[in-house]
Amino acid sequence: MALPYVAPLALLAVQAVAVNNGLARTPQMGWNNWNTFACDVSEDLLLETSQLLIDYGLRDLGYNYVVLDDCWSRGRGKDDYLIVDEAKFPNGMKAVSDRLHDKDLLFGMYSSAGEMTCARYAGSLDYEKQDAESFASWGVDYLKYDNCYHMGRFGTPIVSFNRFNEMAEALKATGRSILYSLCSWGEDYVHTWGPSIANSWRISGDIYDSFSRPDDLCGCGDPTDPHCVAPGTHCSVLNIINKVAPYIDRGLPGGWNDLDMLEVGLGGMTDEEYKAHFSMWAALKSPLLLGNDLRAMDAKTLSIINNPAIIAISQDPRGKAVQRVSTNTSVAKDEYGIGEVHVWSGPLANGDQVVILLNAANEDLHISASLAEIFVMDGPGGSAPQVQQTWAVHDLWESRMTETDAAAVLGQDKGALKGSYNATEIPYAKGLAEEDPRLFGEKAGVVKAGGSVSALVPRHGAKVFRLRSTDGKDKTRKSLVKEEL
Ligand SMILES: *[C@@H]1O[C@H](CO)[C@@H](O)[C@H](O)[C@H]1NC(C)=O
Ligand SMILES: *[C@@H]1O[C@H](CO)[C@@H](O)[C@H](O)[C@H]1NC(C)=O
Repeated sequence: MALPYVAPLALLAVQAVAVNNGLARTPQMGWNNWNTFACDVSEDLLLETSQLLIDYGLRDLGYNYVVLDDCWSRGRGKDDYLIVDEAKFPNGMKAVSDRLHDKDLLFGMYSSAGEMTCARYAGSLDYEKQDAESFASWGVDYLKYDNCYHMGRFGTPIVSFNRFNEMAEALKATGRSILYSLCSWGEDYVHTWGPSIANSWRISGDIYDSFSRPDDLCGCGDPTDPHCVAPGTHCSVLNIINKVAPYIDRGLPGGWNDLDMLEVGLGGMTDEEYKAHFSMWAALKSPLLLGNDLRAMDAKTLSIINNPAIIAISQDPRGKAVQRVSTNTSVAKDEYGIGEVHVWSGPLANGDQVVILLNAANEDLHISASLAEIFVMDGPGGSAPQVQQTWAVHDLWESRMTETDAAAVLGQDKGALKGSYNATEIPYAKGLAEEDPRLFGEKAGVVKAGGSVSALVPRHGAKVFRLRSTDGKDKTRKSLVKEEL
């Protein structure tokens, strides 16, 4: 049998990744109840949501983990095992996971590496073995593992590493494949040790539904201060983007920087802001966990989260996050003094390059990025060979589903999803290799050798481009990819 297109890259990447449980080879996708429902959880909520993931075509775009967050237990029994709250989950957890598995979905759960969870339910600290056994026996596929009430066992990387590694080992000992997602808020330099034991690790305090508003509850005034001891909550999209910027190279197939769950559709941001948020999370290779109420979703929200051209950036087999190649702070500021413009750029598996012009200034702006900037990682001062090539520029939001079509999908019109991308049928790696047009947006123009990509970018918005070399097969790029690995 012929090897699939991605096999050579994937095989090489396996040797490079530290946690090697075979999971999260591309950033995990799914839905988590916390951002909308917090503690208001139940079997009904999970099962209704799971059906909507299917009906709206989201499961088949890759959103396959349904993750239950905090507040599901009612303490620990005399036998040291956690007791499920039967008012919320009358049939127990195994029944939930069975139902999800029947629908070709996966089941995620939550606990904390502390004596209590963040909402003050029983935590897993010192009960890792028992709780991992429970999760495995319930058919759990994913554990989000929080950091509250850790009894002082933090403050240096090794102390935090040991605490979180207890659960990594306990999960491994069950023999079940369980994606391990650390919710350690960037503490104790988790980006340096998380990759060794987990499939993802949070790099910041909790996100909130604001594009850029500063909030005292989001600790660490200097977003790049790695000694931050109060990561907090209420961190804006822009704050989190700035926090991850120095660490983007830590993500790789099998383990990802986690920028926290998505706020798209919760109502606190504009359409442009949500598009920018979603695009950045995809291009930075954060897990993509929807956080909105699928039962009350509007058409604009659906047409953001179901854009296959953006998701294909997240799920690109190369697994390399975009890197910031320029920042401009000499732009219009808002009432909080926030205003900045970034250019982000990163290589994709097939030799294309993703370029994001991010406008966090307080006005619409013309932004441009030269090929020399865009390819600076491949050679300084415009010396990269790609600068001498001609590139077709594809706008990845131009092919966004229309509001009418999205409304038809939400109205459960039969046939409304006809022609939509289906990643269950055509995995992204295959669709990309076969140049499926649904993954490539709309061609918006051409950049000649030595030129620049320019666009008018709305305030608090982003333009997301896929640059495609028009110089034949682009052998240069492929040979660079090989050398790097
Ligand atoms: C996607 O393809 C799978 C496999 O053929 C199929 O079972 C599923 O119904 C399709 N999904 C949609 C939304 O059409
Ligand atoms: C920063 O952006 C402003 C506003 O668009 C522009 O006038 C200025 O030239 C830019 N600075 C740099 C260094 O590009």
